[in-house]
Amino acid sequence: MEKKWWHDAIIYQIYLRSFQDANQDGIGDLQGIIRRLDYLKSLNINTIWISPHYDSPMDDNGYDVRDFYKVSPDYGTIDDFKDVLAAAHERDMKVLVDLVLNHTSDEHPWFLAAKDPDHPEHEHYHDFYIWHDGILDKNSKKKPPTRWISWFGGPVWQYVPALDQYYLHIFSKKMPDLNWRNTTMREELKKMIAWWIELGVDGFRVDASNHLEKNWEFPDAKPGYEHFSSLPKHHEYLKELARELFIPNDLLVIGEAGGATRKEALQYAGFDSEEFNLLIQFEHCWADTDDQNVLTPGKWAKGIIDLPKIKHSFAKWIEIFKNRGYHTLYWHNHDQPRVVSHYGNDKHHHERSAKMLAYTLYLLPGIPIIYYGEEIGMTNVDYTELDQFRDVEVFTEYNNFIRNGASHNLAMQALKDRCRDNARTPMQWDPTPNGGFSAHQPWIDTNRNTKAINVTTQEKDDTSILNTYRKLLSLRKSEDIANAEVTFIDIDNPRTFFVKIAAKTHDYLVLANFKGETIHVDLPEDLTAWQLYLHNTEPHHHPQHFEPYEARIYRKAK
Ligand code: GLC
Ligand code: CA
Repeated sequence: MEKKWWHDAIIYQIYLRSFQDANQDGIGDLQGIIRRLDYLKSLNINTIWISPHYDSPMDDNGYDVRDFYKVSPDYGTIDDFKDVLAAAHERDMKVLVDLVLNHTSDEHPWFLAAKDPDHPEHEHYHDFYIWHDGILDKNSKKKPPTRWISWFGGPVWQYVPALDQYYLHIFSKKMPDLNWRNTTMREELKKMIAWWIELGVDGFRVDASNHLEKNWEFPDAKPGYEHFSSLPKHHEYLKELARELFIPNDLLVIGEAGGATRKEALQYAGFDSEEFNLLIQFEHCWADTDDQNVLTPGKWAKGIIDLPKIKHSFAKWIEIFKNRGYHTLYWHNHDQPRVVSHYGNDKHHHERSAKMLAYTLYLLPGIPIIYYGEEIGMTNVDYTELDQFRDVEVFTEYNNFIRNGASHNLAMQALKDRCRDNARTPMQWDPTPNGGFSAHQPWIDTNRNTKAINVTTQEKDDTSILNTYRKLLSLRKSEDIANAEVTFIDIDNPRTFFVKIAAKTHDYLVLANFKGETIHVDLPEDLTAWQLYLHNTEPHHHPQHFEPYEARIYRKAK
């Protein structure tokens, strides 16, 4: 395989709205990113992925695009965007942007024409979206064609009286799905993609990429996900984009496809695939659900962490891509809770568990994506009121929980444990109340722990979570960890995360207690030949003894 620029990418995901507010209006912005590029560079980041920066009514924080060619005034102007590109490129950093192709905002001019029978271009744009006349129920009353459920809860069909038709939206009702079978629509999107490439972006993260094709027979089902997810034809659309735009421009393109199978993985992101370069799948993200919980079901039902499931998932995906592509390593993104609250322990062992999570992930082969704030151990929200939340999904699901019979307190707990706002609070740069994110009241409340958890304080401490990330990412570079070999040890053990890594100049042994209880375990090797390289607590004189979340990295020269 010919070496590509992105084979040693260390990616950092910036949730633009929450990263750094430069003009003091309470909203993160593009100039804010520029101010922090040197910080990112100092962490050994060489690629940033910026969440949607397009003009949008912000029903879903920009995943609802109103104008693909315009920067949201919340974030700046096209000149600010060009400044970001120039400032990053000056520092040898690459810039990826989100590309939202499954839907637009209902305020996009295409949809305004599509839903209005009197609009002069109605005929042309109506078919850019997915419409249905509806069917008759047994009382001859019109109803939607299916009971399919949207990813944000509630029906996928929305009625438009002026047309006497329903449109399909698999996310919020302000996000109508585009009709990818329409070639004129595809040409319009390709023109738009070419425009951003021309401007100088180095790649994309393609949002919701496995949903582009739908089952146009519209069979009834509930929730019916299989009728709008991963249908074979969506691969054809992706190939069309890759052959015409992504490959000729040597971009790094990351697809998002929850539930991808082994076969599909290589189809998406194998070296000879002509679709993406990397794949974001979610198999390890919700390894702690409780199937018995009917009040706050699905991802909202918090249960016990199934550690073997996480390890098997890592092992499986690394094996799939071995010599055939690169695996994408990440703990979480803007759609999951903060990992230290989720898989670690933000109450009693905050620092230790955050480091344990870093040791266990960032010595594995593949291309890492670090989510903003993860490097200082930012935690879930500490909100007490429903109106402190912002995410559109929170409000539909809260109502569902109450309808299921949950109390307000129970519903609030499910939100605090699992909702997406957990990972969207302002970046905690310093100990001041708004964390140095903004002098203005931020668009979403800052976590009150910013006094204890912030960049400035951790910069001063050599052993902080932040400096642990710095060290591990630097090691990834010097030891070419992206291409290392990994062996999982005692993979079915429900408490330990033990791996052996063969890197460029050393072998590494990561020994971690992933749980909150003290354990005594058999060690996989006699440790006398190994040197203790990193540890998150002073080791006991019996090395078989592990404190809660204790983790150590040993190494040995090759
Ligand atoms: C993806 C994004 C998510 C967004 C959805 C709709 O899953 O990661 O944040 O809400 O697509 O665009
Ligand atoms: Ca701002």
